[in-house]
Amino acid sequence: MENAINHIKDVLKLTEPGIQKVNAHLRQQLNSDVILINQIAEYIISNGGKRLRPMLMLLITDALNYDGNQNINLAAVIELIHTATLLHDDVVDESEMRRGEKTSHEIWGNSASVLVGDFLYSKSFQMMVKADNMQVMSILSDATNKISEGEVQQLLNVGNLDLTESDYYQIIANKTAKLFEAACQLAAVVAEQDKKTQTAMAEFGMLLGTAFQIADDVLDYTASDDTLGKNLGDDFSEGKLTMPLIYLLENGSDHQRKHITDAIKNPQQADFSLIKNLIIESNAIDYTLSQAQQKSDKAKTKLSQLPNSLYKDTLEFLCDYAWQRNQ
Ligand code: IPE
Ligand code: IPE
Ligand code: MG
Ligand code: MG
Repeated sequence: MENAINHIKDVLKLTEPGIQKVNAHLRQQLNSDVILINQIAEYIISNGGKRLRPMLMLLITDALNYDGNQNINLAAVIELIHTATLLHDDVVDESEMRRGEKTSHEIWGNSASVLVGDFLYSKSFQMMVKADNMQVMSILSDATNKISEGEVQQLLNVGNLDLTESDYYQIIANKTAKLFEAACQLAAVVAEQDKKTQTAMAEFGMLLGTAFQIADDVLDYTASDDTLGKNLGDDFSEGKLTMPLIYLLENGSDHQRKHITDAIKNPQQADFSLIKNLIIESNAIDYTLSQAQQKSDKAKTKLSQLPNSLYKDTLEFLCDYAWQRNQ
């Protein structure tokens, strides 16, 4: 069938014209007289990134036959917030690789990364004010606040072996899924949809974002660094307990539990390949991915609120991609 969406490449092709507009808008907005801001912003923007959140927003506005141009500005706002969180997150997580390149703080240092992250945040607020819509500002300021809350919750739980699956869900809802929720809800808001559709799209984003982060946490154990563009094992070496580890601590043998408990006390000295093997040889990855799949399947049901179209099919495809992806 012509136009069928069977591969992520089909999604990229379909969304490319819109994403080009978002990228052009981002570049134009980020121009500053301060050279370091231009350098870091250009570095992180031009080093790729999947642009998944802008893509979701544009696919939903297209599915809703929206023909204005506010979606481009708001998609750029969402991507800027995302980029600002990555600049800060890589400092906090002491990560060395992002999008296949050295992280910004490895090149310019922590102070520069934090300050430019702040520049991007505040720029995104300048841009969202232009939408001149109180609901838009409320959704975005709530999302931004929740992301920070999630990152702090996670920090407080570094090395906490008692972290439960439900604590984990709360952290990832805030730090990651909230921005997906905002992107999808805003698409329905700018397309002037009723509350029912706005709520369905918000729920869609929350579920998809949750599946996306669960998959990310699996990839930290199973991916290849080259494909992922980030270093493997970052979560463990930071003492960050994610779903595979939480599962193994709850369901593993005494031997497995002891090994992990000892290693997490001094994670940077631990042999990550041994931990990785414990996880991979157990049921933890299958279990975790099945949880991500459940969220994705539930996300799909929310799409019944949209009329049938190629855009809707693409959104459905992205639900599977969110947990099956390898990067
Ligand atoms: C990375 O997000 C941070 C997480 C929420 C896991 P993405 O995987 O969307 O990052 P880019 O933008 O494609 O690099
Ligand atoms: C993702 O955090 C969420 C935010 C950046 C707010 P992670 O720390 O889990 O994501 P990666 O692995 O660095 O991309
Ligand atoms: Mg990180
Ligand atoms: Mg982090």
